[in-house]
Amino acid sequence: MTIIKKFRITKIKSGNPLICLNKISLSFKKNHLILDNISLDISKGQIIGLLGPNGAGKSTLMNLITGILKPSYGNIFIDGKDITQYPIYERTKKFKLSMCPQLGGYFSDLSAEDNLNAVGEILIEDPKLRKMKVEELIFKFELDAVRKVEAKFLSGGMKRRLVISMSLLGEPEILLMDEPLAALDPQTIQMLQNIIIKLQSEYNLTIIITDHQARDLLVVCDKALILSNSKIVAEGTPNELMKNENATKYYFGDNFKFK
Ligand SMILES: Nc1ncnc2c1ncn2[C@@H]1O[C@H](COP(=O)(O)OP(=O)(O)OP(=O)(O)O)[C@@H](O)[C@H]1O
Ligand SMILES: [Mg+2]
Repeated sequence: MTIIKKFRITKIKSGNPLICLNKISLSFKKNHLILDNISLDISKGQIIGLLGPNGAGKSTLMNLITGILKPSYGNIFIDGKDITQYPIYERTKKFKLSMCPQLGGYFSDLSAEDNLNAVGEILIEDPKLRKMKVEELIFKFELDAVRKVEAKFLSGGMKRRLVISMSLLGEPEILLMDEPLAALDPQTIQMLQNIIIKLQSEYNLTIIITDHQARDLLVVCDKALILSNSKIVAEGTPNELMKNENATKYYFGDNFKFK
């Protein structure tokens, strides 16, 4: 099965961008800037790829959008509202924002099914609806055979599938995926690429996704950007990035091919 992405949203349509980062800077220690004056507009329904070397600040940027971290300077807007000071739960509830974290994201001692049930109990009030949604995700992410297995005993790839399925429980409108393709086998990567494209085309989800499986990530992206040395050093459609000298210099290297 090949991945067919029928369109790429490359420009902000009308009105405000859905997510706007305005001159964001962050340092954990004095004089050690992790992110330096980052500005970025993301349109509703767009899939944005976030690339960059280890330690470039990709996860940090996602943590700023979810509210796990607060910027040292600058503001974050969602739907035109300045949410820089909003706590995590308010961002989640008001803007249906969900995150699939790079590490963890599950309860080790609960089975795969109970992990989904536990988060489902918070997000879906109606028990019938909750059960339906849990079953749908178990089916979609092929977790049926391991539904009774405690999460700590799942393989790396199964853990990733479980966490991704959990991030979709609340039917988010904004989804942040931090290295969702890491540790997945080729067929599962394809399955996930298809799910991501479907989430965009059928539900108009806005997705920010980071991964070092750059080729697999670029297939699904409308636009991607490269973070390096605390700055955005390149951005554009996947094809544009392939011709961008900074993208080659700071991330892809000389031998990388997209197609
Ligand atoms: N809570 C923290 N306290 C201090 N430094 C931190 C903290 N979180 C992240 N950092 C530092 O910020 C930098 C960016 O980290 P981040 O995890 O965002 O990188 P990344 O681009 O996601 O890398 P990777 O590709 O390896 O996942 C690193 O130098 C990291 O050590
Ligand atoms: Mg990271």
